[in-house]
Amino acid sequence: MLLRNTFIEKTMQVDSQIWYCLEICGEKERREIFISLLDEEISGITENNDNSLIYFKKNYEDSISKKLNESSHITNWNWSIVEEENWNKSCEDFFKPIIISNKVQIIPKWYPEDNNYMNIIINPALAFGTGHHETTFLMIEEIIKKDLMNKTVIDIGTGSGILSILAKKMNAKSVYAIDNDLLTNNNFYENLELNTISDIDFEIKDCFDLGAIEFDYIFANINFNVLKKLIPMIKKNGTTLIISGVLLSDKSNVVNTLEESGKEIKNISRKKEWICITAEI
Ligand SMILES: C[S@@+](CC[C@H](N)C(=O)[O-])C[C@H]1O[C@@H](n2cnc3c(N)ncnc32)[C@H](O)[C@@H]1O
Repeated sequence: MLLRNTFIEKTMQVDSQIWYCLEICGEKERREIFISLLDEEISGITENNDNSLIYFKKNYEDSISKKLNESSHITNWNWSIVEEENWNKSCEDFFKPIIISNKVQIIPKWYPEDNNYMNIIINPALAFGTGHHETTFLMIEEIIKKDLMNKTVIDIGTGSGILSILAKKMNAKSVYAIDNDLLTNNNFYENLELNTISDIDFEIKDCFDLGAIEFDYIFANINFNVLKKLIPMIKKNGTTLIISGVLLSDKSNVVNTLEESGKEIKNISRKKEWICITAEI
């Protein structure tokens, strides 16, 4: 079965009065698998070392408890109700600024900017990409090493728009961002506005519907199943590909896919169980 999304990071949506909170305990990988199999609408996730807290606007206790009872992944869980006041507080407590490579600072919108860094302001919401997840962190660490001045960039699976905003702040000539999830739309534009950026082309689009992918830089923090099909579609000489969303356990698979389709691996970095690969054609 293709896992829809094995990424977990803390995401929030603060526009309701109460949330139904499911706490699941156990190994992180088992929690990730269980969450990726849920088709109920998730409003936010907090991941801790020993548990994940999954928030829902609707009461899905019956349907999800049935799945939990049938699941071999999760044996210990608990339901509770969270009120908005506590939610907002926990949101503000959690989203602290993140500094990457001593150059970029990701700040939630309620934090002041620090002029010692290139600031990226994010409203932590439903779209993925607050900088807290290892894969976003690794992507930014790699991107910031490059000279994007006058380069064309595509950000595939842009989520919150965090990597596109970075590219624009690094003076890329043009940035084209796509995501196949309609839910990213509002947060993407909100984050652009927070960073006073207006000139990024954005479309809700599946990457497999892209025509020729002809850009100087391709950023794709997606997941292995998508990357496996996407990588052979990239054919333009002179392209630099920066990818993450890949678990360490899939490293040799991704490396083979890159090499078999004529890409030369330039760098592989790692944070916890995630890796990021830079390759060139
Ligand atoms: C891990 S998030 C990355 C977000 C952000 N770029 C970052 O680095 O933090 C992956 C994003 O890819 C999007 N995505 C997944 N499959 C896709 C596809 N086939 N085409 C376009 N976007 C896709 C998801 O909706 C999600 O927003």
